[in-house]
Amino acid sequence: MYDNWEELEDSIQNCNKCKLCKNRINIVFGVGNRKADIMMIGEGPGADEDKQGIPFVGKAGQLMNKAFDGLGIDRGKIYIANIVKCRPPANRVPEEDEAEACLDYLRNQVILVKPKIIVLLGSTALKNILGKEYGITATRGNWIERKGIWYMPTWHPAALLRDETKKIEFWKDLKQVVIKYDEMKNND
Ligand code: URA
Ligand code: SF4
Repeated sequence: MYDNWEELEDSIQNCNKCKLCKNRINIVFGVGNRKADIMMIGEGPGADEDKQGIPFVGKAGQLMNKAFDGLGIDRGKIYIANIVKCRPPANRVPEEDEAEACLDYLRNQVILVKPKIIVLLGSTALKNILGKEYGITATRGNWIERKGIWYMPTWHPAALLRDETKKIEFWKDLKQVVIKYDEMKNND
């Protein structure tokens, strides 16, 4: 673990700890406010993210931005990262060995950001952060507290592109985040 961003970022350069290193264009480390109170964790880069080296810049990210705009969430105030930093072929779900190899980077990011709230975007984020026993359908929309951090699991934004009905739930879940964040600020 590193206690500063420079060393952490240096450590991930040219990473070849898992097989996803073979086909990547860019390592997608993370983006946003490094002192954010709210952190979002996705699954892994898609084609657009791989090309640009930035998380959630493709279709799913644009949909997420729309929700942020509607709810008054300033993307500049949050920090966004993924379970794996390199694109899985054909956007498949990261395999267990890949997630395991990459998770230390994310854990280190969480330690440095020190968020109060973490939004888990989809099943991959939920299972790798809180445990394999959790299912996204049953867990989404429900707060889970662990070691002083409040976790809100919700749908992955790509799932909203496939199923419109999930959009409403996604908005509801993010609304809960906004409400809790406001409460926390008022109690500070
Ligand atoms: N999906 C993710 O999980 N992460 C991204 O960065 C883009 C799409
Ligand atoms: Fe390294 Fe993570 Fe990329 Fe695998 S996905 S090569 S562990 S940075």
